[in-house]
Amino acid sequence: MYKIIDGKQVASDIKKEIAEEVLKIRNSGGKIPHLAAVLVGNDGASETYVSHKVKACEEVGFKSTLVRLDKSVSEKELLDRVDALNNNPDIDGFIVQLPLPDHISENKVIEAVDPSKDVDGFHPVNLGKMTIGLPSFVPATPFGIMELIRRYGIETSGKNCVVIGRSNIVGRPVSILMSKKGTDATVTVVHSRTKNLPEIVRSADIIIAAIGIPGFVKADMVSEGAVIIDVGTTRVESDTTKSGWKLKGDVDFDAVAPKCSWITPVPGGVGPMTIVSLLHNTLLAGKLKGNM
Ligand code: GUN
Repeated sequence: MYKIIDGKQVASDIKKEIAEEVLKIRNSGGKIPHLAAVLVGNDGASETYVSHKVKACEEVGFKSTLVRLDKSVSEKELLDRVDALNNNPDIDGFIVQLPLPDHISENKVIEAVDPSKDVDGFHPVNLGKMTIGLPSFVPATPFGIMELIRRYGIETSGKNCVVIGRSNIVGRPVSILMSKKGTDATVTVVHSRTKNLPEIVRSADIIIAAIGIPGFVKADMVSEGAVIIDVGTTRVESDTTKSGWKLKGDVDFDAVAPKCSWITPVPGGVGPMTIVSLLHNTLLAGKLKGNM
């Protein structure tokens, strides 16, 4: 019988741990962690993500600031706002919600963020540090995945891990973390150009599915006893929900789960972990500055 990796529960446990730390900081007269988020335009999904981030800050006792900018904002104006946040000593960390409008270079904006405040872990300095095993801010989803694996005591040393997808924010960084010293998995990254993909995925003890295609991983791609981390969160039409849509993962859950030892559900698996990763990084940013 397979067991569920309950990301909702772990996220709630971590939020409690962070809230206790904030209380200690408050009681000892330290500086309260302060996260800022920059939201450009009013894309529905981005609004939802950012409002969840702000709400999570409030839940653990952080300060939060939301900087809203019109979608017509110039790249120069946005870079000036980033600079102001870099230079504001009260802000411990901040994020610029992606995607940005087409007339703004995301790379320029990411590189403008002070790496010591880059709690998304997207700056090349942080990605570089992570790659060579130095302490750094780890991007939210990879951090959340690693924390689930650690807290559930899932054995990684010497295991075959297949990562499906090579995005800069999930597949590539998680493949680096899974192979690092101390975690010690043997990692293969597969993607849209991979030959014999099902055969390679069948060789996995641990599958991390981050390709963004709902139901992509079928039962015949999975070996008995595999551990599956499903990162997919695609909105698909549904006549059983009020909103008319529901979230579907990259794994054909009903068919695949009976073959697994452990599996993350969608929703309630990796998703809830991403926001606590951001809170964790913000607390870390404050501590590294000696603020707390
Ligand atoms: N858009 C989707 N995911 C993310 C994220 O983790 N950080 C930011 N800044 N934007 C996103």
